[in-house]
Amino acid sequence: MEDKVLKIKNLSVEFSTSGESFKVVNDVNLELEKGEILGLVGESGCGKTTTALSILGLLPKNAKITGGEILFEGKNLLLLSKEELRKIRGKDIGIISQNSMSNLNPIRKIKKQFIESIRTHVDISKKEAHEIACEMLQKVNLSDPERIMNQYSFQLSGGMRQRVMIAMAIALRPKILIADEPTTALDVTVQAQILEEIDKLRKDFGISIIFVSHNLGIISQLADRIGVMYAGEIVEYGFISSVFNNPIHPYTKGLLESVPKIENAKKILKAIRGNPPDLSKKHFGCLFYPRCDYVMDTCRCKKPKLIKIKEDSMGACHLINKNSLGNKIINL
Ligand SMILES: Nc1ncnc2c1ncn2[C@@H]1O[C@H](COP(=O)(O)OP(=O)(O)OP(=O)(O)O)[C@@H](O)[C@H]1O
Ligand SMILES: [Mg+2]
Repeated sequence: MEDKVLKIKNLSVEFSTSGESFKVVNDVNLELEKGEILGLVGESGCGKTTTALSILGLLPKNAKITGGEILFEGKNLLLLSKEELRKIRGKDIGIISQNSMSNLNPIRKIKKQFIESIRTHVDISKKEAHEIACEMLQKVNLSDPERIMNQYSFQLSGGMRQRVMIAMAIALRPKILIADEPTTALDVTVQAQILEEIDKLRKDFGISIIFVSHNLGIISQLADRIGVMYAGEIVEYGFISSVFNNPIHPYTKGLLESVPKIENAKKILKAIRGNPPDLSKKHFGCLFYPRCDYVMDTCRCKKPKLIKIKEDSMGACHLINKNSLGNKIINL
């Protein structure tokens, strides 16, 4: 039996602005296993949200999927009609989008929105939907669900709104949850509580989760595997322990070095020099080479392919080709 609940194969997405098109997601491959949390990380603008939104056909109008497949239960989601996708969205695949704070309508009570979102997918009475909603609000630790149901979103704190969004996203026990920076706008205590809830959902319901974040600390605590994106491409992919202990790609190494650690509290953090490339321009070689401390001549002219290094671990860097084990070269 196939353990993969979702397969993204060779996904490419372009945006067009002012008559010009540029690729922001290039040939991305990702697989999500049943009950696992896959972390997707990378600097701002590297294509995490675009990849996540492609899954449910939620990209903005000026975006175009130019290649690839997204397979869910044997179906290529990219070939489904809007109506077919709408049936899957919320029921089989839930999403907490990056701007979920503004996704709640401020002029409608939570109960109206929540009950409607359930009844779009299942033919049940308002009373039954109300009960499910309250049960889910309790699941995400909102202890007085009836009160929350009767409030407007602006009457709730940021953490409460985010919990409501999570409750709505999981109310119908989706098989997959896409959580795009679900805790970024929250303070650290609320953030920790919400992460705990998300982890509990996976344990209680066996939900598979794609967790998008630029916070490596969060990913290290929560995820089983990690995909590191740079300039629209996956540059490293593998189990958390292997990627964190032995990063293959200099970009991953740079990201890890820029995470604040308590023992280095007084030291200046090492930032990755330079900026990501402008994707509207043409580039040669490895997209990371202008920022890379390990750059070689090959890197300037030849693009490295994402290759398998060991079981479930991949990297796109010429250092790997030079030596079969990249981590022998890059010692953290
Ligand atoms: N509506 C849009 N029109 C044109 N370009 C866009 C649009 N949305 C995103 N982009 C571009 O696509 C690229 C990828 O953006 P995306 O939002 O996927 O990045 P991200 O990794 O989610 O970043 P962040 O960490 O800031 O959320 C960026 O270069 C961005 O400028
Ligand atoms: Mg984003």
